[in-house]
Amino acid sequence: MNGPLVLGIETSCDETGVGIVHGETLLADAVASSVGEHARFGGVVPEIASRAHLEAMVPTIRRACAQARVSLADLDAIAVTSGPGLSGSLLVGLAGAKALAVALDKPLYGVNHLASHVAVDIVEHGPLPEPTAALLVSGGHSNLLLIPDITDEITSLGSTIDDAAGEAFDKVARVLGLPFPGGPHIDRIAAEGDAAYVSFPRGLTSGRDMQRHRFDYSFSGLKTAVARWVEARERDGHPVPVADVAASFQEAVTDVLTRKAVLACRENGVQDLIIGGGVAANSRLRAMAQERCDAVGIRLRVPRRDLCTDNGAMVAALGAQLVAKGRAPSQLGIPADSSLPVQVVSV
Ligand code: KG4
Ligand code: ZN
Repeated sequence: MNGPLVLGIETSCDETGVGIVHGETLLADAVASSVGEHARFGGVVPEIASRAHLEAMVPTIRRACAQARVSLADLDAIAVTSGPGLSGSLLVGLAGAKALAVALDKPLYGVNHLASHVAVDIVEHGPLPEPTAALLVSGGHSNLLLIPDITDEITSLGSTIDDAAGEAFDKVARVLGLPFPGGPHIDRIAAEGDAAYVSFPRGLTSGRDMQRHRFDYSFSGLKTAVARWVEARERDGHPVPVADVAASFQEAVTDVLTRKAVLACRENGVQDLIIGGGVAANSRLRAMAQERCDAVGIRLRVPRRDLCTDNGAMVAALGAQLVAKGRAPSQLGIPADSSLPVQVVSV
């Protein structure tokens, strides 16, 4: 094994993640989640998340070091998510990372959460092809990206103009009476449903939209369409076929996501596509993307499910790439940037 030994800290939302990567090898991936504390509010409560990060930070760092069998003194660098995400939550991770960097006299790398979702695939499937296209689908973002070099700059080909894909899953789950976060529940229940039961709208795919918003997404119309359909059904006194509606909704989301991702690859002459972010854990998205990529000869890479949702390994993976490529470390004064643009890989 060679390459830099990097510890990565992720606290942008409700997962306290600490990962340790040696070059391109994953040594530890410790995650503590506060998701259970948010469930009864139907969404992540920022103040609760920050407090949970504070409590989980030191034990999670200890757990990662024990898992990797390394001591903090062995590390070559500390990487941390500096944005985008919830400000208070980001601040906890940044403060922890800065304290480690100062105490251990190691370089600090502030990295972009979104680029990390792509970089994590390196620890599973090896170095990223250059260039690679990426479909990034999480609770807060949906982007189509062109990545010539993950340590340098990312080009955004398009993004959602309203709700993120994960947000749509969570909101539709709520309409269907499923718990928060809804993505995994829709995934599970949709497996028993008929995806052709209702033909829900495919946002931004009409002729005119394909000219103005070729690689952009829109899920808010779809979310409303599902809510209206369910309301109408209930008004008429009929039971709602939850599995069928979940499957039909999931089909509409994954159809648009994969259709535009494949088109972006073809039109930009890119042969490799990576899907990252929490929604990349979705079974139907994974299967449909594989079918459509196979049909046109695009190589598809999707990280295993636990690496798709937020974790520290992804931050360590990107940090290790930055160190290996000799990129300059961050200043100790780097701020939390809740709206860090996707193009900025490290700060
Ligand atoms: O990347 P992530 O863990 O956190 C953010 O950076 O936002 O993504 C969380 C999102 C949530 O909206 C969750 O419902 C969704 O990912 N998600 C899924 C699945 N697992 C998680 N969506 C659909 N199917 C899944 N299996
Ligand atoms: Zn994420």
